[in-house]
Amino acid sequence: MDAAIDVDRDRLLDSLRAQAEFGATDGGGLHRLALSPADRAVRDWFVDALTDAGLSVRVDAFGNVFGRREGTDPDAAPVLLGSHLDSQPRGGIYDGALGVVTAVEFVRTLDDAGIDTRRPVEVVDWTNEEGSRFQPTMQGSGVWAGALDLETQYERTDDDGVRVVDALERIGYRGDAPAEQREPYDSYLELHVEQGPALETAGADVGVVTGIVGLSWGRVAFHGRPDHTGTTPMHLRSDALVAAADLTTAIRRLPSTLGDRTVATVGSLDVDPDSINVVPERAELTWDVRDSADDVVDQAVDRVEAEAAAAAAREGVEADVERLLRAPAVEFPARPVDAAADAVDALGYDGLRLVSGAAHDASRVASVCDAGMVFAVSEGGRSHTEAEYTAPADCYRAANAFANAALRLAEPV
Ligand code: GLV
Ligand code: MN
Ligand code: MN
Repeated sequence: MDAAIDVDRDRLLDSLRAQAEFGATDGGGLHRLALSPADRAVRDWFVDALTDAGLSVRVDAFGNVFGRREGTDPDAAPVLLGSHLDSQPRGGIYDGALGVVTAVEFVRTLDDAGIDTRRPVEVVDWTNEEGSRFQPTMQGSGVWAGALDLETQYERTDDDGVRVVDALERIGYRGDAPAEQREPYDSYLELHVEQGPALETAGADVGVVTGIVGLSWGRVAFHGRPDHTGTTPMHLRSDALVAAADLTTAIRRLPSTLGDRTVATVGSLDVDPDSINVVPERAELTWDVRDSADDVVDQAVDRVEAEAAAAAAREGVEADVERLLRAPAVEFPARPVDAAADAVDALGYDGLRLVSGAAHDASRVASVCDAGMVFAVSEGGRSHTEAEYTAPADCYRAANAFANAALRLAEPV
């Protein structure tokens, strides 16, 4: 099949700009944490966009929002397309949102061209992909795919103690549809910005994603003894923050001793009582470790735990270790990868095959149907910051590759 459709570049960019108004920051980014008022506002906008595109909308019990365009074959399994509309704190306007607006744009393009597909097409906005306000990441897709238990995830709380289930109720997005597959799905395709520098470095137009790295998230809480900083001799202290600092630098050094592409990060640190003249009683940090080989991720986690115990022993504090999430590495099957690669070739774009270092809902959906992804170029590889940027021409190229790949999966009649 040659390239058959061409998305409306201006309409796509208008949608991208429109969604970016909900939760816009002064710095040109987005602060749209999962299940916040800004998330509700963009969801309302998304539901209107689905309705205007003639899709039947349903919201599931975990707040995942779907729009469905029927196919010509009532027995055919649907193709699912989408990403997420929540953002990181002071994040970028492309992460997730570009994939959602492109999925809607695909449906509009089919309508404009008068194309029917054999398979139904569904567009989805997954709840809480970012895992920033509520953990873990990929929460909505994880529940839907059966990797996470609905009731357990309802009870997860944010830093203010608000439960997911109450936040869903509050924004009016605890829906009626079961948060699970209603029927077998044929495939899932997600467009996303790369969020790293590989495409730009290679001078490629579009990325054809072949898989996603494995990931471990966890938390270590060190418990020491609060004391007066002026009067307590150094040798009598049990300083929780010193142990946390020790572990932080150990985690930073870990990747160099493991795989070539291993990454490890301490992204959050909480200190109590957080006072200039009290020896810290409690210090809590998180880890995020990723590699495309699951055995490397597992080794890294074992090492983090051993380093936590050693740091605690050196400082005379207690360490509580909690593993929060283990998402296995995913290798996408040939069918969606080939659909994306063939579409890129047919459009005359320069495609690059690559493994995603970022987590995506596609890795959860991959456990229930054939999943694949298309990447757009990220300028400077920047993401999870307001500085995130993908040029209009790159948004358009990736969207066009995605639309033509999605059409291959949905089977035009
Ligand atoms: C999600 O954005 C992740 O890769 O952590
Ligand atoms: Mn994302
Ligand atoms: Mn993200």
